[in-house]
Amino acid sequence: MTSLLIQGGQVVGRKELTRADVRIVDGRITEIATQLAAQPGERVIDASGCWVGPGFVDLHTHLREPGKESAENVETGANAAALGGYTAVLAMPNTEPTLDSVAMVSYVLDRGRSARVEVAVAGAITIGRLGQQLAPMAKMASLGVTVFTDDGTGVQDAGVMRRAMTYAAQLGVTLAQHCEDEALAAGGVMNEGSVSSRLGLSGRHALAEEIMVSRDIDLVRLTGCPMHFLHLSTARSLELVRAAQSEGLPVTAEIAPHHFTLDESACETFDPEFKVHPPLRTAADVAALREALRSGVVDAVATDHAPHTPESKDMAFDEAPPGMLGLEHAASLTLDAVGEDRPLVFFDVLSRGPAAIARLRASDTRVRHSAHGGDMVVGDDANIVVFDPSTTYVVDRFALASKARNTPYHGRELRGRARATIVRGVVVQESGELC
Ligand code: NCD
Repeated sequence: MTSLLIQGGQVVGRKELTRADVRIVDGRITEIATQLAAQPGERVIDASGCWVGPGFVDLHTHLREPGKESAENVETGANAAALGGYTAVLAMPNTEPTLDSVAMVSYVLDRGRSARVEVAVAGAITIGRLGQQLAPMAKMASLGVTVFTDDGTGVQDAGVMRRAMTYAAQLGVTLAQHCEDEALAAGGVMNEGSVSSRLGLSGRHALAEEIMVSRDIDLVRLTGCPMHFLHLSTARSLELVRAAQSEGLPVTAEIAPHHFTLDESACETFDPEFKVHPPLRTAADVAALREALRSGVVDAVATDHAPHTPESKDMAFDEAPPGMLGLEHAASLTLDAVGEDRPLVFFDVLSRGPAAIARLRASDTRVRHSAHGGDMVVGDDANIVVFDPSTTYVVDRFALASKARNTPYHGRELRGRARATIVRGVVVQESGELC
C-alpha cells in the first residue's frame, strides 16, 4: 500500500476552493478533510499557499517520436509535462512516419506506458497527413483513440473533410483541425500586415485561419461531427466559435500561451524563436484572446509544444521551422492572463476543459487511461497538481527537461509553478525535481 498526504492547500473543486488535506492511497483519493494527521511512513507534501487541483491536460503536444528524437522523445516530453504540472498529454501525429495506423499509434502508446505522465495519442485523419485518403480511423479508435487530426496542416479539401466528418460522427470520435488555408497563407512566415510589410517578410493572413474555421463550422452543421479547433489565434476565430457554440453545435476551441502572450512585433527581432504556425498576431488579437480566457469562454489552453533542435531552428527567420516549446511554462503564462483571482477558470482551461475534449474523464469509458480533470472528491483517480500561484522564477532555456531549447521566454520572470505533480497516486515531480 502506498499512501500520500497533501497537507495545507486549497482544494480546487468544480465550484469552489476549500482549505483541506487530501489523502491518496494506492492511486485514489481516499480522504479529504480539514485536518488529517500523517500516518507512520506516509509521504507528506506541503501544499501551504498552493492550489491542489486536477492535474493539467495538454491537448496539443508534439513528442516527435518516432522520427525526430533528436528534438524530443516520449520520455523527455513527458518529463517536461510533469514539471509543467501536467498529468496527461495528447501526442500529435505529425511524426515520421505519421501516426496514421494501428501499428504507429500502438508504438507511441507503448512508449507512453513507462513515461512519467499519461500519454494519449491523436491519430491522423488522412494517410501521411496528405489530405487525400482517409486513415483507418475505426481501427485506431479501437485502441482508445478519440481525437483525430492532421495537425501541422489543416485538411485543405472540403470534400475530404466532409467525408472524414461523416465517418468520425458515426465512430463517435472528435476531429481536431489546424485551421490554415494554405493557398491564403501562401507560404508566409509571420502575420500578414503592416509589420510584415515593413520587415519585408511574407505574411500569413488572418483570413487563412478564419476561413477554415468558418468552413468547418458549416461542415459540423451538415454532419453533426464533434470538432475541436486547434491553436486559434485571432479575435474573429473565437467569435465564430462562440457563435457556433451558442447555436448548439458540438465545437470546442483551444488557444496557445504564445498567442495570448506575444504579438507580431516580436518578429521585429528576426529571431526564429518567434516563428510559429499560426503566426503571432496583432496586439488587438492578443487582448481579445486574454479577455476570452479571463471571462471563461475558452474551452482549453493547449501548449502546441513544438520542439526543434538548435541546428534546425537557428536559421534565418524565413527558413527556420515554425514552432516553440510550451509544456514547462504554459501554466505560468495562463495564470498571468487569467489572474490569481480566478482559480476555477485556471483549472477549467488547463485541466477540466481539455480532459473533457480528449475524453479522459472518469465518465469517458472508451479511453484506457486513468481519469483526469476530476472534481477532487473521494474516489477520484489521483491525477493531481499542487500549484503555487505566488512563487516566481526566471526561464532558463538551458535548464529545461525538454531536449530542445526553443523557448521564446528565455530570461523572462514568470509567476506560478507546479510544486508537485502526482500521476495515479505517484509523485513524479516535486519542487522542480523529477522523481
Ligand atoms: C508544429 C510543429 O512543429 O510540429 N509547429 C507549429 O508552428 N505549430 C506544427 C504546426 O502546427 O505547424
